[in-house]
Amino acid sequence: MPQTAPLRRLFDGLSTRLYWRTFALIALLVWLSISAWFQAFRLLQRTDQVRYIAREVVTVVDLAQLAMHHAGADGRAALLADLARNHDIALLPRAAADRWIEARDTEFARRLIAAVHERTAERLLFADRVNGQAGMWVGFSIDGSPYWLRLRRSRLASSLEQTWVIGGLLATLLAMVGAAVIAGFVSRPLRDLGLAIARVRGGDFSQQLDEEVGAAELREVNRGFNRMARALHEFEQDRALMLAGISHDIRTPLARLRLEAELSVPDPQARDDIISDIEQADAIISKFMEYASTAQPLRERVDLADLVSKLAADYAKHGDIVIRMPQQDDAPVLADPLELQRVLVNVIENARKYGRTPGSGRAEIDADFVRRGDEIVLSMRDHGPGVPPEQLPLLTRPFFRGDQARTADRGAGLGLAIADKTLARMGGGMQLSNAPGGGLLLRIRLPRDPLDRLPPPVL
Ligand SMILES: Nc1ncnc2c1ncn2[C@@H]1O[C@H](COP(=O)(O)OP(=O)(O)O)[C@@H](O)[C@H]1O
Ligand SMILES: [Mg+2]
Repeated sequence: MPQTAPLRRLFDGLSTRLYWRTFALIALLVWLSISAWFQAFRLLQRTDQVRYIAREVVTVVDLAQLAMHHAGADGRAALLADLARNHDIALLPRAAADRWIEARDTEFARRLIAAVHERTAERLLFADRVNGQAGMWVGFSIDGSPYWLRLRRSRLASSLEQTWVIGGLLATLLAMVGAAVIAGFVSRPLRDLGLAIARVRGGDFSQQLDEEVGAAELREVNRGFNRMARALHEFEQDRALMLAGISHDIRTPLARLRLEAELSVPDPQARDDIISDIEQADAIISKFMEYASTAQPLRERVDLADLVSKLAADYAKHGDIVIRMPQQDDAPVLADPLELQRVLVNVIENARKYGRTPGSGRAEIDADFVRRGDEIVLSMRDHGPGVPPEQLPLLTRPFFRGDQARTADRGAGLGLAIADKTLARMGGGMQLSNAPGGGLLLRIRLPRDPLDRLPPPVL
C-alpha cells in the first residue's frame, strides 16, 4: 500500500517522542486499570443480581399462587385479565400443546436457576420463549394446574451496566487529558534543556534556565546547567585573553629577532635561514590563533566557482600549480568569503606540499562542482600519492601531520582542522578520501544560497 510508508514514518516519529511515549503509556495504564476495575465490579454485581432476580422470581411465583388460590374459581379469570392489562407480569394457563424454548444454558441462567431452587421446594420450568413470545418465562403449578408466568426482562436487567459503561468512558477521557498534561510536565523541561544546550553549543551563554521551577530535581538540573554555562563562558573569555597574550608576547620578540638578524647577521645564507624560520614560527602562531578563534563566520552569498577560478588564475603565475575546472555556471553558496578563501588556499598549498604529480614536479588539481539538494559540493583532487587509508580520519585532527610532512618540516598540522571547523560553522562540511586513480580527493559541502534555489524566472 502506498500509504504505509508515511503512516509508518508518522508512527515512528510519534513513538520516539518522549511526550507521546509518556502520554501513551499513562493512558494505557489508566485504561487497563479502569477496565480491570470495571470487570471486577461487574463480576460482583452479577452475583448480587442473580440473588436479587431469584428472590424476585420466587416472590412473584408465591404471590401468584396465593392470589389465585384465594381468588377462587370465579375470580381467577378476572385476576388473569387484570394482571395482563396493568402489569408487566403475565400469568397464563400452561397447555401441553404450548411450544416453548428452554432457557439458554448460560452461566447466568444456570446460577439463577440454582438460586431460585434454593428458595423454593417446587421444580420450576424456565423458558426464553413461549408460543413465539420472548420474555423470562417460569412454569409452575397452582392448585395442581400448570401455569406460565412471564416477567419482562427490562424489569429484571438493571440499568447499572449502562451507567458503568458511560462512567468508564468518561473516566478514560479524563485519564487521557490527565496523561496529556503529565506528559507535558515530563517532556517540556527536557525540551527546554535541549534548546539551551543547542544555544550554548552555538556560543550563546546568556540564555539561562529557570531555577525556580516546581520540581526539586529539575531545579537541580537547571541550576547545574546554568552554573556550567557560566563556567564555560568564563573559561571561554580566559582562553581568548590568554591566547591573545601568548600571541602578543611571542610575536614581539620574534619581530625583534628578525630585525636583529637582518641588521647583524653578515652571512646572507644564514640570515635567510634565520628569517625563514622566524616567518614559519610566526605563521604557526597565526594558524594556532585562527584555530582557537570562536568568532562566528559571516554567511553571505559567495560564488564558489568564481572564487576557485580566481585562485586558479593567481596560482597559474607560480608555475608549480595547475588548477583545472570545467566551464562552470555560477555556484552561489552562503559562506564567509575570507574564511572560505583561506580553506581553499590551504587545500591548494597542501597539494603543492604533499600532492605533486610524480614525475612532473608540479601539483595538478581537478576541481568540479555538483549541486546536491540544498548544497553545492566542490571536489578538489590532486594526482599525488594520496594518504594511507588509516590516516584519512586523522587528517582533520589538530596538529596531525603525515610522515612526509614531518620531514618537510613546514606547517603546524592545523590547516585541515581549521578547514573542517570553519566549514562546519558555515553550515557545510568536508570529506577526505583517496581518488580512484591516486591522489587526495577533498569534497567541500556548502549550503546553496536560498535565492538560487528559487525556480528560474519564466521569460
Ligand atoms: N594533498 C595531500 N596529499 C597527501 N597528503 C596530504 C595532502 N593534504 C594534506 N595531507 C596530509 O595531511 C596532513 C595535515 O594537513 P594540514 O592540516 O593542512 O597540515 P599541514 O599542512 O600543516 O601539514 C599533512 O601533514 C599531510 O600529511
Ligand atoms: Mg596545510
